Amino acid sequence: MSTTSVSLSDQDIEEEAERLYSELKNVGWTYEDCAIIAPLTLEINQIKKEKNAIILAHSYVTPDIIFGVADFSGDSLGLSKKAAETDADMIVFAGVVFMAETAKILSPDKTVVVPDIEAGCSLADGITAEDVRKLKEKYPGIPVVAYVNTTAAVKAEADVCVTSANVEKIVSKLDSDKIIFIPDKNMANYLRTVTDKEIIDYDATCVVHDNINPDSIEIARERFGEVVILAHSECPPDVLDKVDLVEGTSGMKKYIEEHPEAKRIMLATECGLADRFSVEFPDREFIGSCVMCPYMKRNELRKVLKALKNPDPEQIIQIPEDIRIKAKKSLDKMFELGQ
Ligand code: 13P
Ligand code: SF4
Repeated sequence: MSTTSVSLSDQDIEEEAERLYSELKNVGWTYEDCAIIAPLTLEINQIKKEKNAIILAHSYVTPDIIFGVADFSGDSLGLSKKAAETDADMIVFAGVVFMAETAKILSPDKTVVVPDIEAGCSLADGITAEDVRKLKEKYPGIPVVAYVNTTAAVKAEADVCVTSANVEKIVSKLDSDKIIFIPDKNMANYLRTVTDKEIIDYDATCVVHDNINPDSIEIARERFGEVVILAHSECPPDVLDKVDLVEGTSGMKKYIEEHPEAKRIMLATECGLADRFSVEFPDREFIGSCVMCPYMKRNELRKVLKALKNPDPEQIIQIPEDIRIKAKKSLDKMFELGQ
């Protein structure tokens, strides 16, 4: 018998361990590992039902969260759409704080909680609303395009938000030859290669993607021979120049689904994505990167349970209403132009 607040029999735990093992064995988990977390995933899934809550998880969080308790896992765009359309009363966001803020901006009547309020993001932390106001003063009348990896206060200063999944489409559609793109310098550089816009950039980067070594791409090609290499658009130009396809995480998944002939795939992005895809596409071989997002990995099952069951005040996302309304306009514009 277990020590959780829900009553569990040995059979319940065995069945849950089997369910977890059927997926997590693909990323090296043993049955015993799964049996250890089974009471926790059962308790989380039970409380989720009682509270009419859903758990949204970004693809970079650990596979026990993605396959054990998440109702939906995906990229920033997919998660924000789920947050906007859910009829749950509560959203537990296993990702980073700007993503949970986006959920709250779109679903203000729901309780949005995070497992760990310290789950930041070097991009979101790299620019303030005051910085954006200064840029607007310096370049009056130039539209401000904010990557979704920004705080609510920064989104509130922007004209439109974008994610890695729609950035190229939205920037190309804007009725201006010149744009201010914040805050990712690498993504701004990428946009210069795929659009004809003049881009005023900002000097922030993702600590994960900016540290992907271009040599690792060449080494992988030499070592693995036939390999398709996909890179996230947050990577530096000397990485993007060497790869086969530049995409966000959902674009990478789409490529894999549409190309069953690609048997060996290298993912130049956060290491967790290779784990997720190894479970979902067991007939392929994934070569991940050695870079881990320290913020995404702050999410753990025990913290998910705490946030769901009895959140501390700092785990509950709050956004001043004036900022929320302005930030929502930038997100609404993204949904409109991203069609
Ligand atoms: P995606 O929207 O492509 O999943 O990217 C989010 C992110 O934080 C990448 O580092
Ligand atoms: Fe932010 Fe980079 Fe982590 Fe994504 S991977 S959440 S951009 S620090």
